[in-house]
Amino acid sequence: MSGRPALSLRNLSKTFRNGGGSLEVLAEVDLDVAEGELVCLLGKSGCGKSTLLRLVAGFLSPDSGSVEVGGGQIAGPGPDRCVVFQEDALFPWLTVRENVAFGVMRTMPRKVRDAEVRRCLEKVGLEPFGGSLPREISGGMKQRVALARVLILRPKVLLMDEPFGALDALTRGEMQGLFLSLMRDTRGTSLFVTHDVEEAVTLADRLLVMGSSPGRIRADIPVPLPRPRVRSDDGFVRLCREVRELLGAETA
Ligand SMILES: Nc1ncnc2c1ncn2[C@@H]1O[C@H](COP(=O)(O)OP(=O)(O)O)[C@@H](O)[C@H]1O
Ligand SMILES: [Mg+2]
Repeated sequence: MSGRPALSLRNLSKTFRNGGGSLEVLAEVDLDVAEGELVCLLGKSGCGKSTLLRLVAGFLSPDSGSVEVGGGQIAGPGPDRCVVFQEDALFPWLTVRENVAFGVMRTMPRKVRDAEVRRCLEKVGLEPFGGSLPREISGGMKQRVALARVLILRPKVLLMDEPFGALDALTRGEMQGLFLSLMRDTRGTSLFVTHDVEEAVTLADRLLVMGSSPGRIRADIPVPLPRPRVRSDDGFVRLCREVRELLGAETA
């Protein structure tokens, strides 16, 4: 990998304090993600994956350490880092088109914005549904809107927090394919959280396995498998088994 990393975490630590107690969730996490790299972060429930993503998004502040994007230290949330959550966070009273336009209402002139909304809806295959309300479309389509809504912002780093976790297996597979093609088109950089080992091995250039209490990155594994990945291939099955063993070895 050449050049400056798109995302750097340096010595990141976070402890939650409530009432009399405290919970050390992350300790001294160091990570570099290269430009154009798709890194999947795996770990058991409660190990601190969402906390890590929220620190990178700037929704939380670390107790120590820093987050750098494109070489500059972050000081809060910004459009250079967008998050897609498991549960859609669409505005129920706005149409699909208006939801996608929302983040650029103040920054993009009307004409450019209309064209950009159309471009992003086309990319996720939802152009015919621009006038629909969120309640009129399926869960998979809502996650497509969530993707279009971040694509329009052209973030430097796309933060994905189990974005397909609530979808049925078939829709989930389609969304994984769509996400990979979007990443290829935009040469995007992404930190993608999942607890689905097959999903991680399907998507990732590199896998990070997180341990818990406190959360640390226990293993950093490049995925040398050719694309498109085939789940029945020996290499795929072997890597999934290896990752599962690593996860199994992690007890809270
Ligand atoms: N705002 C908060 N205050 C106190 N504890 C929290 C807060 N957010 C998360 N936690 C706790 O931190 C731990 C890690 O949570 P989280 O990052 O959501 O894990 P994961 O996404 O890996 O399931 C959990 O034990 C959770 O209960
Ligand atoms: Mg989580």
